[in-house]
Amino acid sequence: MTARACVIGWPIGHSRSPLIHGHWLDKHGINGTYTKQEVAPEELENFLAKMQAQGFAGANVTVPHKEQALALADHADDAALAIGAANTLWIENGKLRASNTDAYGFLKNLDQEAPGWDETRKSALVLGAGGAARAVLFGLLDRSFDDIRLTNRTRSRAEALASHFDAPIHIVDWEQRNTQVAGCGLIVNTTSLGMTGSPPLELDLSGADATTVVTDLVYVPLKTSLLEQAESMGMRTVDGLGMLLHQAGPGFEKWFGVRPEVTADLRNLVVADLLDT
Ligand code: ATR
Repeated sequence: MTARACVIGWPIGHSRSPLIHGHWLDKHGINGTYTKQEVAPEELENFLAKMQAQGFAGANVTVPHKEQALALADHADDAALAIGAANTLWIENGKLRASNTDAYGFLKNLDQEAPGWDETRKSALVLGAGGAARAVLFGLLDRSFDDIRLTNRTRSRAEALASHFDAPIHIVDWEQRNTQVAGCGLIVNTTSLGMTGSPPLELDLSGADATTVVTDLVYVPLKTSLLEQAESMGMRTVDGLGMLLHQAGPGFEKWFGVRPEVTADLRNLVVADLLDT
C-alpha cells in the first residue's frame, strides 16, 4: 500500500516540503507520496477528522493552521505545547498526535554546521519575538542556555514571549541591541529583516568576539548581510536553510519509517529551487 503524507496550508503554493520529502522518498525507494493540500481555515477540523480515512499517515502544517492544529490534536508533545503551535501531525492508534519540530531543526542545523556551538558558552542574543523566536527559545533552553538576551522592535511582544517560559530571559530594548552582542556564544536573527524584499537587519557585530556563532533564520537570500558581516569578522556562520531541511526529518520518520539525512544533495536541490523562483 502507498503511504501518504501531505502539507496543509492556506495558501500552499510556496511550500518546499514536497521537494524535500519527495527527494527522501526516492532516495529510500519508498512507495509513498507527499502532496500539497490547500485547506481553508474553516475546513481544517473536517480535514483532520478524515485524514486517516483518506489514507494519510500524517501531515506537516503550515501557515495559518499551526495553532489550530495543536488545539485539534488528541495529544501534543512538550515541544508543540511549549511553542504553542504544531507543524507535524501523525496518527497513532487512531488518535491525532502533534509535534513541533522547528526547535529540533534549529538545533540540528547548528549541530551539523557549527559543531560544538553549544559547548563552551551558554549565552545567546535572540532578535525577534514571533513564532520562530518561540521555537528558538525552546531549543536554547533545552540545551541549558542560561544567559538569553531577547530583543524585539515591539518590546511588549518580547515580554509576552518570555512569559511563556519558566526561565530567566533578559529583555533588551531594540535600540540597545548592539551593546548586547558582547560575550554571546550565539547570535540568532528570527526577524524577517534581511529577507529579500525587507530592509536589512542592522546589527553591529564589532563588540562580539571571533568565537561567536551567528545564524540567521532567513534563507532567501542564503547569505544575508548579517552573515556577510559575521563572516568578514572571522566568525562561524550558519544560514537558515538547514533548519527548514532538518525540521522535516522527524515527520518523514513517523510517516514512512525511516529517519532521513540532510545531505549536500538535498540542500543543492532546494537551493536550485530557491534560485529558480
Ligand atoms: P514568525 O512567526 O515567522 O516569527 P512574525 O510573528 O511575523 O513571524 O514575526 C516577525 C518578526 O520580525 C517580529 O519580531 C517583528 O517585530 P515586531 O514584533 O516589532 O513586529 C520583526 N520585524 C519585522 N519587520 C521589522 C522591522 N522593520 N524592524 C524590526 N523588526 C521587524
